[in-house]
Amino acid sequence: MQASRRDVFTVACALAVDAALRAAVAPATAEPADERPREGDYLAAIDAAAPEALSPRDIAAPQVIAWPMEPATRLIRNGSRLNKVLLVRLDPATLVGATRERAADGVVAYSAICPHAGCEVSGWIEEQKILECPCHNSKYNPRDGAAIIDGPATRSLAALPLKIVDDKLVVAKPFIGRLGIAPA
Ligand code: FES
Repeated sequence: MQASRRDVFTVACALAVDAALRAAVAPATAEPADERPREGDYLAAIDAAAPEALSPRDIAAPQVIAWPMEPATRLIRNGSRLNKVLLVRLDPATLVGATRERAADGVVAYSAICPHAGCEVSGWIEEQKILECPCHNSKYNPRDGAAIIDGPATRSLAALPLKIVDDKLVVAKPFIGRLGIAPA
């Protein structure tokens, strides 16, 4: 049996309505700058005048805060502060557990945002080689998955596994652990 023109028109209308409905309920695509760090991303210091992919030897200060950088377009993923990455260079022999596998040439990476109330974890206690949040003094052990040593935080910092590609630090896997403020 051949479909009538009216049948064809009805089916076409139904398909158009269905497509419109699906488009209406589909989640909006995130802007590339808002996307979380992806495998293959470089890391670029947030205070650099001209963003460059960091190498392990660039992590000379106790810690460097960086943005993920898309490798092909060099787009900086700075659309969300949750993308700020804390880089610390340590003696590889002092790393324990999963941190050893997540590190690249002794450099470990964590979310720079404190889960207690969202401050930037910018402090460093040299004698103990631990990270400290300046707001309420939560302390984290970068050699052991940023585990909490002291303070009001209830969750360790999310970890970002790294690898080395052509002498550059590169994201090996997405963040492990929750980002942002821990629910009270
Ligand atoms: S925001 Fe970091 S300890 Fe409170």
